[in-house]
Amino acid sequence: MAESAELILDGKSYSFPVTEGTEHEKAIDIAKLRDQTGYITIDSGYKNTGATKSAITFLDGEEGILRYRGYPIEQLAEQSSFLEVAYLLIYGTLPTQAELDNFSHQITKHTLVHEDVRKIFDGFPSAAHPMAILSSLICALTAFYPESVSPDLSKEEIDLNVIRLMAKISTIAAWTYKNNMGHPLNYPRNDLDYCSNFLYMMFSFPTEKYEIDSRIVSALNKLLILHADHEQNCSTSTVRLVGSANASLYGSVSAGINALWGPLHGGANQEVLEMLQAIQKDGGDTSKFIAKAKDKNDPFRLMGFGHRVYKNFDPRAKIIKKAADDVLSALGINDPLLKIAQELEQAALTDEYFIERKLYPNVDFYSGIIYRAIGIPTEMFTVMFALGRLPGWIAQWKEMRENKEPIGRPRQVYTGELERDYVGIEQRS
Ligand code: MLT
Repeated sequence: MAESAELILDGKSYSFPVTEGTEHEKAIDIAKLRDQTGYITIDSGYKNTGATKSAITFLDGEEGILRYRGYPIEQLAEQSSFLEVAYLLIYGTLPTQAELDNFSHQITKHTLVHEDVRKIFDGFPSAAHPMAILSSLICALTAFYPESVSPDLSKEEIDLNVIRLMAKISTIAAWTYKNNMGHPLNYPRNDLDYCSNFLYMMFSFPTEKYEIDSRIVSALNKLLILHADHEQNCSTSTVRLVGSANASLYGSVSAGINALWGPLHGGANQEVLEMLQAIQKDGGDTSKFIAKAKDKNDPFRLMGFGHRVYKNFDPRAKIIKKAADDVLSALGINDPLLKIAQELEQAALTDEYFIERKLYPNVDFYSGIIYRAIGIPTEMFTVMFALGRLPGWIAQWKEMRENKEPIGRPRQVYTGELERDYVGIEQRS
């Protein structure tokens, strides 16, 4: 007999079906709850609410497992490339060589942006945060491709928007940095692979030859893969919710970029590095900052520790920690911030206070150190996260459209005033 959940309300019993995922996660399907009982559920922060059924990413927070389309993150980070993982997330299978070549070729062909997009850069203050520019310009792509706002896009039309977005985001992202620095904006080079082209647009000058370092390209591939999807996190849920109104892919992803910018989400990697720099400036005594983090009356917060869903460790943090060691030693960099980070991690992993609260380093803790080692400035860290997360957002948006999910419309429990009559201004005290 199919499993169900019984609910007794006001002495009356109701039965709701239980649905089970392929990894045996169980959920009570309350779609008919309000119709049948008049009640709704309340779940602030949605910690117990499955907003959708999804076949893209599996995450087990208790066991520290993360898989894209069934493939363990450890294997993908070690053996795959960012574009291959993007294909996997978006289309559901690992591509054949011909499929990957075609996907890469299509993306390469679309890396140029309309010259009018370039002109928009002149309207931003040069000190604007790159995430503000990135979200604005990704949204602005809807103005250049107005046909992308339609409930009836064909498979081919969706694919074209996917390719355009994958291609143009790296050009726009690199230009946000160049704009910030007052440097000339570099046009993409279609003879280069995705990551090399991004690095070229970020770091080359028309006056000098730019040598691409394969160690940096491989570190970048790994970082982007590790960030590529994380099931229904805040920005992805935003993309799906905005997309559920049949908003364009560009508009939906732009909304996700704004969510990611928040310091409690993707903005955390910038905050980790700023924290490490502040500790270094203070003399580098990590035990002092561990004590401050434990002091309830001290406003200091240890950034990059703990996670909403991982309760033992973040599998991405393990991979990134090793990658940080590898990249720094391959590049011959001796970064004092890495030592501070390692000391903080060590102290936290052996301190009862942090163990009890399950405060383990998360993905943001070491990513900033690698970005710094490969020359990415701090205010670009969240942009790098967005670049990595893009295939995940696209895959989730596409899945939502293909499953014909209804427009998202949560309810609320109203706690305001009861009905009262309007009072003229002269009678108000
Ligand atoms: C992410 O990768 O999106 C972050 O770890 C946040 C999350 O999953 O909630």
